[in-house]
Amino acid sequence: MVTGGGRGIGRGIALVFAKEGADVAVIDRITENAEQVAGEIQALGVRGFAHSADVSNETSITKALTDAEQQLGQIDVLMNNAGINTHVALVDMSVETWDEMIAVNLRSVFLGTRVVLPGMMKRRWGRIVSTSSQLAHKGGRQLTHYAAAKAGVLGFTRSLAYEVAAYNITVNAICPGPINTAMSKIGSAEWKAQKLQELPLGRYGNVEEVAPTLVLIASDEGSYYTGASFNMNGGDVMI
Ligand SMILES: NC(=O)c1ccc[n+]([C@@H]2O[C@H](COP(=O)([O-])OP(=O)(O)OC[C@H]3O[C@@H](n4cnc5c(N)ncnc54)[C@H](O)[C@@H]3O)[C@@H](O)[C@H]2O)c1
Repeated sequence: MVTGGGRGIGRGIALVFAKEGADVAVIDRITENAEQVAGEIQALGVRGFAHSADVSNETSITKALTDAEQQLGQIDVLMNNAGINTHVALVDMSVETWDEMIAVNLRSVFLGTRVVLPGMMKRRWGRIVSTSSQLAHKGGRQLTHYAAAKAGVLGFTRSLAYEVAAYNITVNAICPGPINTAMSKIGSAEWKAQKLQELPLGRYGNVEEVAPTLVLIASDEGSYYTGASFNMNGGDVMI
């Protein structure tokens, strides 16, 4: 199950899992994108499902995940990937802008995980992976709300990893650097020029350079990773 699977990094993750033979459901608030990706998944010879939902809304995400669990039989891998980004200086930031960022990028991770966890605990197997960001480590100008939400995802990941390890459930995060998607088009020309200068590899990454790591984390070979964060970031933050 991939949230925000209608485009960008989420679509890339959905397709890479489908190529590995997994049945995949995607959730997105843009219905036609979710449906298109479900079609691409099916074209790879596995089952693909689309769900239209707002991941920040408890009723909406709970219904989508419950429906998906019924269709798929069970959810073994949850990829909490849906997210938004805006660039706003703190002095100009409204409470609504702050709250929306935290709700979509952090609250959704709690809401979605809470739905799938009981089934995973019962089956004593599961993988939870959430998309944080290198900005959780580094911060960024005009990004207090985004960086706070993404740092929250890391705290959530590490804490839950303790709670569910005994059930053979691993909990990890990825922290991509700037990746060529609709999201990375946000921000001023100066912001992007500065970012390119800071990047040791001198370029933004591509979705194909992020998604395969998720297969490793979900595989049997990835079973000793938990509470970890994976930094595909072009060298922007070296930790
Ligand atoms: N692109 C980057 O440079 C970058 C870097 C680090 C982390 N990330 C993170 O990666 C994730 C994916 O981002 P992306 O670059 O693919 O961006 P994107 O904008 O291309 O894709 C995000 C997807 O999430 C969906 N979405 C947003 N809010 C939603 C909501 N409330 N309910 C349901 N779906 C919702 C969007 O419709 C979209 O399909 C995000 O969590 C983002 O913060 C992106």
